Amino acid sequence: MIDDLWYKNAIIYCLSVGTYMDANGDGIGDFKGLLRRLDYLHGLGITTIWLMPFQTSPGRDDGYDVADYYSVDARYGTLGDFVEFTHGCEQRGIRVIIDLVVNHTSDQHPWFKAARSDRNSPYRDWYVWSDKKPANANQGMVFPGVQKSTWTRDKEAGAWYFHRFYDFQPDLNTSNPRVQAEILKIMGFWIQLGVSGFRMDAVPFVIATKGAKVKKPAEQYDMLRTFREFLQWRQGDAIILAEANVLPKTDMEYFGRDADRMHMMFNFQVNQHLFYALASSDSRPLAQALKATKPRPASAQWGLFLRNHDELDLGRLTEAQRDRVFKCFGPDKDMQLYNRGIRRRLAPMLGGDRRRLELAYSLMCTLPGTPVIRYGDEIAMGDDLSLPERNCARTPMQWSTEPNGGFTISDTPALPVISEGPYGFEHVNVAKQRRDPNSMLNWTERIIRMRKEVPEIGWGDFTIIRTRDPAVLIIRYDWRNNSVLFVHNLDEKPRETAFSVQLPGDVGEHLINLLAENHSHADKRGQHRVVLEPYGYRWYRVGGLDYLLKRSEIETR
Ligand code: GLC
Ligand code: CA
Repeated sequence: MIDDLWYKNAIIYCLSVGTYMDANGDGIGDFKGLLRRLDYLHGLGITTIWLMPFQTSPGRDDGYDVADYYSVDARYGTLGDFVEFTHGCEQRGIRVIIDLVVNHTSDQHPWFKAARSDRNSPYRDWYVWSDKKPANANQGMVFPGVQKSTWTRDKEAGAWYFHRFYDFQPDLNTSNPRVQAEILKIMGFWIQLGVSGFRMDAVPFVIATKGAKVKKPAEQYDMLRTFREFLQWRQGDAIILAEANVLPKTDMEYFGRDADRMHMMFNFQVNQHLFYALASSDSRPLAQALKATKPRPASAQWGLFLRNHDELDLGRLTEAQRDRVFKCFGPDKDMQLYNRGIRRRLAPMLGGDRRRLELAYSLMCTLPGTPVIRYGDEIAMGDDLSLPERNCARTPMQWSTEPNGGFTISDTPALPVISEGPYGFEHVNVAKQRRDPNSMLNWTERIIRMRKEVPEIGWGDFTIIRTRDPAVLIIRYDWRNNSVLFVHNLDEKPRETAFSVQLPGDVGEHLINLLAENHSHADKRGQHRVVLEPYGYRWYRVGGLDYLLKRSEIETR
């Protein structure tokens, strides 16, 4: 039955409309421009686009401050353009998920304006108020160092309002049934316009109890069930992908023990330990993180990512581990953010080293879950540390060597295009890489193609195979009598590794290399010996002798 769960074997690609492609030359990317790039995305092989917020917004947090949930910001186009876009996706078999930012609104949202101007407004109770300054007003900031408090006094309202994020993002009172009903209505609206689901922003905060008297916020998990139930009534195959950076012990609460809450969650635990593994060449904490996040309902899925539009949050590592990652990937204070993370893009973090980039991508594609690629990472784009906070990793897509990287014909792009230096658009762009068979872009296309042909990763059960060498990670998946095996060398030195593959009904004698010709055959004791290059990786299918015989028949024909 459940081959229908499309998100189990998807390749998600996330992008901001405003920095992808500008069609009308005003310097801001738009839906018309994005529509023109759909064939590029289709060619890359991605199956799902995740659009970051594009609704009407003052844009003080890159659209995560929404002022009208039922609209497209005029800078990006119209609702009509949006529907043309989703239709274009549908024609190419690409699904669309969009950000659902309902923990808070913009302070310019008409609801908040009504709420602050009139104590008796029906919207007053849509937000979280206090007459006096709450005792914990200086606690719980999400952006420490930039954000001063979580409660701000509003003159007009004559009261304090709660904001988990910036002060221009007042929290919605999500416990209010009217607010909940409105959230469902927002989902229903976009579903009707052709989206396949939502990346739900800041989920732990959405479901937390809020208020001046709340000492320790409690999660109201039932809300998640309400969201899912509604969605599935409206459209059976729609999903919610939750942004919830939580401890592994609460994962099941988010997925729901009866698989009745979130369909997908980003695996922050694995993300952080993956970067630690890349920094330290020690795979053991990563293996731990994989084990800790293993339990999940059969229909649920992890979203696996390397970098996203935010800082690389390292808050779940030990201090020593975090320091190691900082030292390796973000040694300058200016590269770090919010006392917990690194704000750079992937390629510069890895020193632009193609071997390390491939290793990181290979891991993202073969660890349990569905890969989520950040736009521009397929061509190894860089960052612009002169831009504030997280904006450094949000610069426009680099299409060609034309002025402004072909992103816009305007002289004043919304965010500066990276130019000059090793990551400038003059060197790093789609057009150039398209012509080079060995480019990062063409490699990414090939790895995506292969990833889609290995559904075992998204569907199967995994086992981590022991090795004596902490620099080598071996993971195996079993699904429907098929097995695949992935070997990664995290170290800068070559490694020889020995292991055996014991499967019921198959001794795992032959490992068929999915990416190259060097297959592996076990010795008499059933041991495979593989020599991995520095940062080398192997994708194997566990194949019986039959397969090999058939192959040699074909080859000698
Ligand atoms: C999420 C988003 C981030 C945004 C915040 C507030 O963490 O990923 O970009 O600033 O929520 O909406
Ligand atoms: Ca434009």
